[in-house]
Amino acid sequence: MNTYWEDELAIEIIKTCDELERLVSGLKSDGKTIGVVPTMGALHEGHLSLARAAVSQTDIAIATIFLNPTQFAPNEDLTTYPEPIEADIAKLEDVGVPYLFAPSNDEMYPPGFSTSVVPPKISKRLEGEFRPTHFAGVATVVLKLLNLTQADIGFFGQKDFQQVMVIKRMIADLNVPTEIRVCPIVRESDGLALSSRNVYLSKKEREIALSLSRTLDHVEKQIRSGLRDGFEAITEMRQMLIDAGVDSIDYAILAHPNTLETNDPIELPVVALIAAFVGKTRLIDNRVIN
Ligand code: PAF
Repeated sequence: MNTYWEDELAIEIIKTCDELERLVSGLKSDGKTIGVVPTMGALHEGHLSLARAAVSQTDIAIATIFLNPTQFAPNEDLTTYPEPIEADIAKLEDVGVPYLFAPSNDEMYPPGFSTSVVPPKISKRLEGEFRPTHFAGVATVVLKLLNLTQADIGFFGQKDFQQVMVIKRMIADLNVPTEIRVCPIVRESDGLALSSRNVYLSKKEREIALSLSRTLDHVEKQIRSGLRDGFEAITEMRQMLIDAGVDSIDYAILAHPNTLETNDPIELPVVALIAAFVGKTRLIDNRVIN
């Protein structure tokens, strides 16, 4: 049941899987195409660019907000993750999203829930080394959301480069009839990639956080000028991040964009990927260089 203010909204908020399945079956029998934008809330322009793409590229856009506990490890920021639900709803309304699926934990993982997707091999690298349970949580919830929405197209951001690879592989392997469209990273005017976690950064930390995009700018420039020594490029990337004051680096690497294998000597296309802590905030960023 919606609260009084939710009844006033132009966006319909759906809280149960049953309601969503009824809606989707009606839309499908009317021949509508469905676009889904899965999110964990704390929406920023990056999410809204996905929502705009879904609104313009499909008949019916469904955004989802679910802070998925299974993709967080016990030491991570699940309990402090921002949840500005009313602001999020207003933003989705603004971009013209007609439906929001915002289920509770119990709705997604009712008592007795015990199935999980074993994510594809590609999940073991990079993020997988530092967040070993993360992609099983992501893959399971994304598969549930794609099944529930029967989406023709799922919209995801390139900022989560490896996540997109994991989802694409899962969809191909499990014959999920959803096309994945990847939208570019949205950045602040000074280059900082938008992230829901940026709100954790103090003014000083935000300055340090800029070193991620600056390091990517630098390595891109070097590669475009002919640098092919991967070891040299990575050593410089790490040094730039350290000099700027990042607290620790999970990875700063150059990889093949289709395999995430090490790319040394550098062959194009190459993807530069960084995950680093600024204070307690873990940030990721990447750049594909063609
Ligand atoms: O990218 C995210 O926000 C999450 O990993 C996703 C895809 C919504 C699954 O919870």
